[in-house]
Amino acid sequence: MESPAADHTTVSRIIRSRRSIRHYRPDPVPAPLLRELVDLALEAPSSFNLQARSVVTVTGEEGRKALTEATGGQPHPQEAPVMLVFVAEPGAWREDRGDVWDTATRLGAWSERFAVASPDDARLFHENLWRRGLEREYAVKDAMIAASFLMIAAHAAGLATSPMNGWDEDEVKKAIGAEGRDDLHIALLMPLGYPAETRLHPGRRDRSLTVFSETYGR
Ligand SMILES: Cc1cc2nc3c(=O)[nH]c(=O)nc-3n(C[C@H](O)[C@H](O)[C@H](O)COP(=O)(O)O)c2cc1C
Repeated sequence: MESPAADHTTVSRIIRSRRSIRHYRPDPVPAPLLRELVDLALEAPSSFNLQARSVVTVTGEEGRKALTEATGGQPHPQEAPVMLVFVAEPGAWREDRGDVWDTATRLGAWSERFAVASPDDARLFHENLWRRGLEREYAVKDAMIAASFLMIAAHAAGLATSPMNGWDEDEVKKAIGAEGRDDLHIALLMPLGYPAETRLHPGRRDRSLTVFSETYGR
């Protein structure tokens, strides 16, 4: 595996300088760049590699207008040329994910034995989650980590993003053509585009309040 050490300074700078941007220039994001950024989001890890999330890219007027309404008129979807909708798929483990096992085996990443055991392992794990009502939460983890990867990749490419809460889930589903899909959940909305503002770092709580050694709270 290629050593990532040489890029550490760059990655560190990118992570530290990313900000949530609320205003965007209308300039379109070139399609190959958008594709690359989404591909980088899909590089994010996922539980059992089940990839229980999807990304919907919305660039059309109509879709962005519907998302603007779904967010109660926040400026981001009105201004940003691209809106990304991260969809959590809690039922992924019930579906045929043979493509996942086959690909991992073909690439030599998983042994045949591991790949054959994986569907049953994943099913047992998720049946337990389902009994405890945690399916949604676990799929949202997959979606959120993909969204995080995209935020960093976008900033490295000179683009801006902002994670967004504050939308009506049914309206967002309608805007992306997933109306009535009770098996899906919206994890996050994210505008993507060239920034029309600069934002200062709002700071983080003192490290002593949020980082502990060995024991929580100490
Ligand atoms: C899950 C999540 C939801 C957020 N929702 C919104 C939102 O609806 N509108 C908004 O303007 N910012 C939203 N933010 C951005 C936060 O306000 C922002 O991350 C925080 O103030 C820290 O600023 P920074 O991202 O520039 O470091 C959200 C952030 C997260 C992680």
